[in-house]
Amino acid sequence: MTTQVANNVNVEIAEALKTILANQFVLYTKARNYHWNVTGGHFFRLHELFEKLYDELADDIDEVAERIRAVGDYAPGTLSEFLKLSNISEKENYYPEAEEMVRTFTNDYEQTTNRILESAAKIQNEYKDEVTAGLLYGLAQKYQKNIWMLKSLMNN
Ligand SMILES: [Fe+2]
Repeated sequence: MTTQVANNVNVEIAEALKTILANQFVLYTKARNYHWNVTGGHFFRLHELFEKLYDELADDIDEVAERIRAVGDYAPGTLSEFLKLSNISEKENYYPEAEEMVRTFTNDYEQTTNRILESAAKIQNEYKDEVTAGLLYGLAQKYQKNIWMLKSLMNN
């Protein structure tokens, strides 16, 4: 297992991780938003579910940011950078029905997971950094499980 990678490759790994971190941060904020603003018959279930999701994301954000440090770069830590780096969109002053919240969150989550999987494969195959790839595959496994739960919730 490779634990050290060449310096020129570290930059590419850090850049991939920064986009993932930004997506996680926007998702984290969206989970907070939905936790606060969800309404309707499934209020308690969804209020708690979004709390579980943002708690988990808070831990994951820390893992990814600290991995950026471990590969030798600085971790972005401002909201303006996260918004620039992220490919997850937000809508201001918009409070959709519960069903749309779950659907939107699921789509964003899938987009983030796909990005994580693409980066993990590249980091493993091209840059031979098994540690970063392992971290990303672990995140993808967890997010795929959450996506399955969110989709199951939409089918009831
Ligand atoms: Fe709360």
